[in-house]
Amino acid sequence: MLVDLVIRNATIVSSEAMFVGSIAIRDGVIVAIGLDETMPDSMESLDARGRYVLPGAIDAHVHFREPGFSHKETWESGTASAAMGGVTTVFEMPNTRPPTRDLETLNLKLKAASSAYVDFGIYGLLGEDNLDQLENLIEGGVAAFKCFMGNTFANLPSPPTGAILEGFEIIAKHGYRIALHAENASIMARRQLALQACGRCDPLAHLAARPPVVAVEAVSRAAILAEWTGARIHILHVSSGDELRPIREAKQRGVDITAETCPHYLLLDEKAYTEKGSLVRVNPPVREKVHQDQLWVGVQDRTIDMIATDHAPHSKEEKHNDDIWGADCGFTGVETQMPLMLTQVAKGRLSLMDYVRMTSTAPARAFGLFPRKGALLPGSDADIVVIDMDREGAVDEAVLQSLGPSTPFHQYPIKGVPVHTLVRGRFVMKDRKLVTAARGHGLNVRRVQQMPTPAPRNLEHTTAAITGKDRA
Ligand code: NCD
Ligand code: ZN
Repeated sequence: MLVDLVIRNATIVSSEAMFVGSIAIRDGVIVAIGLDETMPDSMESLDARGRYVLPGAIDAHVHFREPGFSHKETWESGTASAAMGGVTTVFEMPNTRPPTRDLETLNLKLKAASSAYVDFGIYGLLGEDNLDQLENLIEGGVAAFKCFMGNTFANLPSPPTGAILEGFEIIAKHGYRIALHAENASIMARRQLALQACGRCDPLAHLAARPPVVAVEAVSRAAILAEWTGARIHILHVSSGDELRPIREAKQRGVDITAETCPHYLLLDEKAYTEKGSLVRVNPPVREKVHQDQLWVGVQDRTIDMIATDHAPHSKEEKHNDDIWGADCGFTGVETQMPLMLTQVAKGRLSLMDYVRMTSTAPARAFGLFPRKGALLPGSDADIVVIDMDREGAVDEAVLQSLGPSTPFHQYPIKGVPVHTLVRGRFVMKDRKLVTAARGHGLNVRRVQQMPTPAPRNLEHTTAAITGKDRA
């Protein structure tokens, strides 16, 4: 057998094992993995001695802004950022303009995504006004759903609990996972008004408006609705230690719930507001150090399944504001996650195998892509990142691909950098350089996605059932 490429003598890392060996790739798929002398003949070979080879990261939470806000980010710039960051699959959020709420808007998004360097899944919106579109979105090719329980950029209204329940009932019948921005809109809106009324507009006022109960209430409510309907859910950006208990309890009750946190909740604390001002404004907020410590415990005991980025770029002008309420929320992340977290691996805070589990294998499993993605096995897509754990430097917003590269991690010292990224066997980043010819190589993951058979519950109680309008 003649193969396209053999990556030779690397330390191969999966979530279960780490060993020195080689990987053979043909037609975008891994065909052999083992000792170098057992490899088939190849057209090309890459010497990776001293380097580590990991399944590419799967970032379940990015905002690429197109259509509608292309000055903040485009699919081209966002996925170029992913390629440079060792990320081979992204799941993109629906708060664009227009939001991804029906077939027509999904097709606009798919068109924008045709410039992608890396593979992608699209989140469809679960909102109060598009419950009748959810099944069309599934047919049209979304990989999962997103429900904004709290306020969001682009001002999508947060659905009332009744609409969330109906949405869960519909999606539960199809097995697709629903990602929740779990913050209680009413609590934080009232607190923000109260803070504004007494003249607070300093950066820490943002934190004061969103105490952990904002998230705890929403996580618990989402878990109850998921338990009732059998819907699969994913809790986005866990930011507080307090959210861990309802997540643990829901897992113990058998709810199909996964959870992610982001590098900024693991690495920044409230001091960042004084040091970085409005740049650090993000929803949910970066919190006090005690939460950071508890989140690391949640990472270690696996209450938190994944690390994603909530890549939410805005322009410099939109990020910097002396009035905190005027600064846009969120910042770039898809390109900085890997160096930031590998630095934690280098410091001994996380093993490399745990890193692979949290950034690749777990999201692949949660979204029905494993073992096609999230694994280095014969038959898996050759979505691969080669990393140099000895390479040191600092995060530098001047070199990021993102159109909104402002980040509170600017100049953060790093050790551990992705040097090559391959998506289905093709280099999209080689020797730290973007392979511009790979623009448009990215494909929708729906072609390989297989969600497990759904197990919906309590469907005899749905609004559709009691009014005789159930389509199923
Ligand atoms: C995000 C964005 O800008 O789209 N911002 C954020 O602070 N996480 C998402 C959002 O607004 O909810
Ligand atoms: Zn987000």
